[in-house]
Amino acid sequence: MAAIHKTGFAHPWDEGALRNLMDKPNCLALAAFDAQRELIGFIITRQADDECEVLTIVANRKKRRAGIASLLLADALELSRLRGANSMFLEVASGNKAAIKLYEKYGFEEISRRAGYYTQGRNAPEDALVMAKQLDV
Ligand SMILES: CC(C)(COP(=O)(O)OP(=O)(O)OC[C@H]1O[C@@H](n2cnc3c(N)ncnc32)[C@H](O)[C@@H]1OP(=O)(O)O)[C@@H](O)C(=O)NCCC(=O)NCCS
Repeated sequence: MAAIHKTGFAHPWDEGALRNLMDKPNCLALAAFDAQRELIGFIITRQADDECEVLTIVANRKKRRAGIASLLLADALELSRLRGANSMFLEVASGNKAAIKLYEKYGFEEISRRAGYYTQGRNAPEDALVMAKQLDV
């Protein structure tokens, strides 16, 4: 998982950070495998009462645009709903057009913007969009 995370983020999470999250009972991790049983993507969400958030989602760089993230996100939304969540939130960099398109396709809408939220590894600070989707509709 850490190796795949590295293909998607300038500041990826290492094995320890991922393991730490997956040890938490309120976190849900779903993984996608190809026919050769190779890990090709994953999503991690965290739930608190009836609210859930996407902590991370990534598809292997070599296997993008093949529907991997769509499958992961759709399953995470449905499982979270079954586990009692009414809404799903997430944060995404304003320049991450691929992710924003993905989230819009699944019904997420921008609810606020955090100006200059992302600073690490960037020439200039980048805004974060906060997006949300109701799960009961
Ligand atoms: C964003 C990401 C997870 C999408 O994964 P993916 O498996 O390639 O996505 P899918 O194939 O399921 O695409 C689903 C939809 O997302 C949108 N999308 C995905 N990649 C896109 C791109 N490069 N440009 C425009 N839209 C894109 C499209 O609407 C697409 O639907 P379509 O193919 O019917 O047009 C992937 O690009 C990734 O891992 N990026 C790096 C990590 C990251 O940014 N994660 C999100 C952090 S908030």
